[in-house]
Order: sequence, then C-alpha cells, then structure tokens
Amino acid sequence: MQHLLLIGYRGSGKSTVGAILARHLGRSFFDLDDAVEAAAGCSITEIFAREGEPGFRERERHALSESIRIPACVLSTGGGIVLNPENRAALQDAGFVAWLTASPEVLWQRMLADPLTASRRPNLQNGGLEEVVAVMGQRESLYAETAHARFDVMEKSPEHIASDILNAYEAWRKSEPEG
Ligand code: S3P
Repeated sequence: MQHLLLIGYRGSGKSTVGAILARHLGRSFFDLDDAVEAAAGCSITEIFAREGEPGFRERERHALSESIRIPACVLSTGGGIVLNPENRAALQDAGFVAWLTASPEVLWQRMLADPLTASRRPNLQNGGLEEVVAVMGQRESLYAETAHARFDVMEKSPEHIASDILNAYEAWRKSEPEG
C-alpha cells in the first residue's frame, strides 16, 4: 500500500506536517486521534477516564485498521500507536512510515504550548520533562523498528520537514514494486 504515515511522540508536529503533506500530494489527511474521538463521541481524556488505557488502545487499534483501508492518504497517528505489535505490522504494511523526532526538552516545550494537551492523555502531561524522557526511552526502539525513515524536526519549519519527507517518500515509492 502507498499510504504516508506519520509516527512520533506528542509534540513532534505530526498533525501540522501531515496536513502540509496531504496538500502537496492532493490527498486526504486523517488524524487518528480525531478519528478515535469522533467514533467515541468524546475526548481522549474522557475515554481514558471511562475505559482506562486498554479501552483507548483498543479503539486506537480499530481506528488504524479502518483508516488504512481507504485509498492512499496521509495519516497522523497518536504517540502510543507503536506500543501494540499488531499496529506496528499494520503501519509497515500500509506504506511509508515517517518518524518525526526531537529532544525530550523540545517536545516538552511544544506540549506545554499545545492547546490540545489538556484534552489528551492526562498522565502524559503531569509528569513533566522527566516523564517525557522516561516514556521516550521506552518507545524509541519501537518507533525506530516501525519507521522507514527518521526526521529530526528541531530547528526546521513544518514546510521544510514536509519537503524532506516528500523526497524520501518519492524515493521509497520508486523502490517499491507497486510504486
Ligand atoms: C498518546 C498520545 C496522544 C493520544 C493519546 C495517547 C500517547 O496522541 O493518542 O493521548 O500515549 O503518547 P498525540 O501524539 O497525537 O498527542
């Protein structure tokens, strides 16, 4: 499949860069967190409160499997999507997986500035920089094993990052049998 999929920690700019990529490619853009909230009819914080993390992760797994059935699109995923091995395999099969990353300090500053932070997973906003460092440490190898390429988002504009990803995506498509 030929989807363009974005993974990475919260604050790495997946949604902003994803929207730019979709515009350049003339494709639909989907944010998986938005899809989960739309299907549940409530915010992610409310899902965590009612169903706990297992309930959210099951909804996230289902939303991913549904989203990748549609024709080639640009899909931005939640920071914890890589925790489930089934999701990691589904992402790799679905197309080109770009990992957006930055230092924990930069990610934490971006999370503080993001108005959406309050409506997302509570225990990923209360632990401060130390929690970002710890969770990044747990997830880094999972992002790395899932992604086709890694993009450092520090000191680059969203347009610049999108352009780097587009170049890598085009190269990947040329190397793919169905590309
Ligand atoms: C999560 C990240 C969030 C959202 C949920 C859980 C995580 O997505 O899926 O709050 O575990 O890292 P973003 O990375 O889009 O903020």
